[in-house]
Amino acid sequence: MKAAFITGTGPADVIRYGDLPDPQPGPHEALIRVRACAVNPIDTYVRSGAVAMALPLPYVVGCDLAGDVVAVGADVERFRPGDRVWGSNQGLLGRQGTFAELAAVDERWLYATPAEVSDREAAAVALVAITAHLGLVDRAALKEGETILVSGASGGVGMAVVQIAKALGARVIATAGSQERREFVRKLGADVVLDPQRADLVEAVREAASGGVDVHWETRRDPRFDQTIEMLADGGRMVLMAGRDARPPFPVGPFYVKGCSLYGFVMFKADSQRQAAAAADINRWMARGALWIPAGHVLPLSQTAYAHQLQEAGGILPSSPPLVGKILVEP
Ligand SMILES: NC(=O)c1ccc[n+]([C@@H]2O[C@H](COP(=O)([O-])OP(=O)(O)OC[C@H]3O[C@@H](n4cnc5c(N)ncnc54)[C@H](OP(=O)(O)O)[C@@H]3O)[C@@H](O)[C@H]2O)c1
Repeated sequence: MKAAFITGTGPADVIRYGDLPDPQPGPHEALIRVRACAVNPIDTYVRSGAVAMALPLPYVVGCDLAGDVVAVGADVERFRPGDRVWGSNQGLLGRQGTFAELAAVDERWLYATPAEVSDREAAAVALVAITAHLGLVDRAALKEGETILVSGASGGVGMAVVQIAKALGARVIATAGSQERREFVRKLGADVVLDPQRADLVEAVREAASGGVDVHWETRRDPRFDQTIEMLADGGRMVLMAGRDARPPFPVGPFYVKGCSLYGFVMFKADSQRQAAAAADINRWMARGALWIPAGHVLPLSQTAYAHQLQEAGGILPSSPPLVGKILVEP
């Protein structure tokens, strides 16, 4: 099979496109003909070695996939050849990745793709929507009628958080860094969309939510706690899930006097049952059009190294049109 793989960590150009032996499914695995996969920041951290993990070498890059089942191991119970499936959380913790014509994946990490949803759409939501679900439901415990502020709402995770928060019945205030991206986030359902660079951001948020926001989800890598704690309501919750190297100052007094809470997590440590529960909700929302993440760029598998460069450049390279949406790769 053709695959995008590395034999050692390094910059994007260590990714090779070439032939590897077809994977053979183990007893609990389904062999998937991959139709679409999405690039996520974690793909680039694992490839570069910034996030050190044991890698089966040669290591196929990538976490997300959508496609169809071509064969199943003897103990697979939920899928048959011909079924359409999507999944995530591959290429991590010693598992092989997904950027290949074929992938052998334990059925615990696979979900039936709704008939209404294309492979591109399923691949685009996979990791980011599971992340949003874990953070909103398990960590922030977002409730109907509450107000959430989503910073960096035009990114993959941000787009998923905006739409899942709306599906859970919340009011959404969002920030995005360009006019084009703000218009797009409004189309995804955000009630108020602001420029994160405006000098009066705190006042603008408090104008949109007079008592402060119940939840702040920060997708950017440089959390500003002074700003956040001013914008939170009494008892407000903040979700952190980015910025491994960030060491920002923290205003202890205002935080505890307001009775705030801070939650952090990584998606890939959630077990397969928890991720499957998220996938069940995600499938319902995708099927009724309430959760959709566009394909910003669709590239052939042979251009995976370029797809990583694009992801690392924040979606913009001189040779590419501006990105709104995920970077997808198709074998
Ligand atoms: N803890 C976990 O489990 C977990 C899971 C997934 C991701 N993450 C982390 O969360 C962070 C966000 O992930 P992500 O998948 O949302 O990343 P992403 O899609 O690359 O978006 C990141 C940010 O880039 C900006 N952006 C969006 N489109 C852009 C464009 N065309 N040009 C330039 N900038 C653009 C947006 O900020 P502005 O609009 O404000 O400029 C956006 O918030 C990453 O650090 C990632 O590693 C953590």
